[in-house]
Amino acid sequence: MEQNPYETSRLLSEYLLFHYGSAEEILPAFAGSSHAPREALGFPARVVRECVPTLAVTSGRALDVGCAVGRASFELARQFPEVVGIDFSRNFIAAAEELRATGRIGYTRTDEGLLTTPLVATVPREIARRRVRFEVGDACKLDAARLGQFDMVLAINLIDRLPAPGKFLAALPALVQPGGGRLILASPYTWLEEYTPKSEWLGGFVDASGRRVQTLDSLRATLAPDFDLIETRDLPFLIREHARKFQWSVSQASIWQRR
Ligand SMILES: C[S@@+](CC[C@H](N)C(=O)[O-])C[C@H]1O[C@@H](n2cnc3c(N)ncnc32)[C@H](O)[C@@H]1O
Repeated sequence: MEQNPYETSRLLSEYLLFHYGSAEEILPAFAGSSHAPREALGFPARVVRECVPTLAVTSGRALDVGCAVGRASFELARQFPEVVGIDFSRNFIAAAEELRATGRIGYTRTDEGLLTTPLVATVPREIARRRVRFEVGDACKLDAARLGQFDMVLAINLIDRLPAPGKFLAALPALVQPGGGRLILASPYTWLEEYTPKSEWLGGFVDASGRRVQTLDSLRATLAPDFDLIETRDLPFLIREHARKFQWSVSQASIWQRR
């Protein structure tokens, strides 16, 4: 069986740089200031900063599903006394746990071929890391009876990486606090059969009646009985593969309120 890409050391390093790297660490000096898409840096922290304060939710419990190496979970801890971060990758959760316990972790950035640079990821000092708990878990099998209810549920760039995104969506009404709990679903909607069988895609196809189905329409239809859509935002992000190769994408964040 092929290895889960999110368990590889290459992606662990890419995600540590993506979540914790500074502009100087991510962008090569030769890119200059005018060419580099600086507005796409610091994505996990930016999602929390730009989407969560708008909602004026500043207490209670928050859940970060598909948390990877944990940056958004730590950012949520600026506001929420209790944060749970869940991810399917044991390697990512081990790194997030080391960051929680010690505030730092060393890793190597790929520059060119086998040439690398050692770096250290650090959690901002002012964040109360003890507020955060990480666990390995499957977003398609979330147990609301064990996890409890949350005032904020965040899933950043997750739904198009799940084998059964519908199962994840089905668990949300039980996880988000009724009467005002918030849900943020951010995704670039990169549907790929490698991760999600086509029959489970939420968008990016033409249905039997000839309608072009977009993911936001499916999210609206699925979540409508329990959630109101407050707003959507377009959030660019940049993932460095090596010094001369980057993925520039735009995630759509949809922000929902539990009825
Ligand atoms: C594209 S990454 C996004 C990670 C992070 N939220 C971010 O914005 O950087 C997708 C994440 O989903 C995780 N993942 C994939 N399938 C999962 C599942 N079934 N349950 C929980 N997490 C899963 C991966 O391990 C990976 O950390």
